[in-house]
Amino acid sequence: MTIAAGTEPRERWTAVDHYITDHLVPADPALEAALQDSDAAGLPPIAVTPNQGKLLELLARVQGARTILELGTLGGYSTIWLARALPPGGRLITLEAEPQFAEVARANIARAGFQEVVELRVGPALQILPQLTAEGAGPFDLIFIDADKQNYPGYFEWSLKLSRPGTLIVGDNVVRDGAILDPEAYDPAHGDEIIRGVRRFYEMVATEPRVDATAIQTVGAKGHDGFALALVTG
Ligand code: SAH
Ligand code: DHB
Ligand code: MG
Repeated sequence: MTIAAGTEPRERWTAVDHYITDHLVPADPALEAALQDSDAAGLPPIAVTPNQGKLLELLARVQGARTILELGTLGGYSTIWLARALPPGGRLITLEAEPQFAEVARANIARAGFQEVVELRVGPALQILPQLTAEGAGPFDLIFIDADKQNYPGYFEWSLKLSRPGTLIVGDNVVRDGAILDPEAYDPAHGDEIIRGVRRFYEMVATEPRVDATAIQTVGAKGHDGFALALVTG
């Protein structure tokens, strides 16, 4: 298929995502089945794309991560990518508020062979994070923040508590088609708390002396969005 210059941007982004994925992200039965079963169960199609999932895996490997915390499991697609980066004995804890999503994720994670590696906890992340802290969980080597965007400020605070110098905190969806530029912006899917939450997250990251951070815009099959990366330094 040839996609001519001048084609709708989103179509070109999607075609380029396919090109990248065809070359660099080999088809994988467990990951494809995870997406298929998530779709069949009616989960929203908001998992990271395959090439983004592989980026998460590579970041975790570069990081030498042995322990990973994920906020927002959905059907476990990103969870499986991250779990693949772990060495033998590595552990991943993932938090999901929706019991129905968690059930789908549990099956997907088990089929991918990570039943013993991944601990899936069901409930609002802001309730589970204090429990994790109380249990002495962490520090984690990598934390992937991808749950409800209005709570990103709280998630960043808890992530710091569950970090050590050297921890990498990754935040998904920090651009939202550019809506973050507008303090009054309204996210058509969820309302204005989303954008306020993401903007407050940027402010917190910017003023937090214990992290060095950047954010990168992404375009692709899931539109225009971005990842924030914050390295904990102190
Ligand atoms: N990380 C997934 C996508 C996550 S989508 C992937 O890329 O494959 C965001 C998820 O966060 C949804 O499943 C949603 O149910 C969950 N979520 C929303 N609010 C939450 C909360 N308060 N605590 C935990 N999870 C939440
Ligand atoms: C939404 C959530 C995500 O994590 C994502 O990557 C895209 C969209 C959402 O809630 O709409
Ligand atoms: Mg996301």
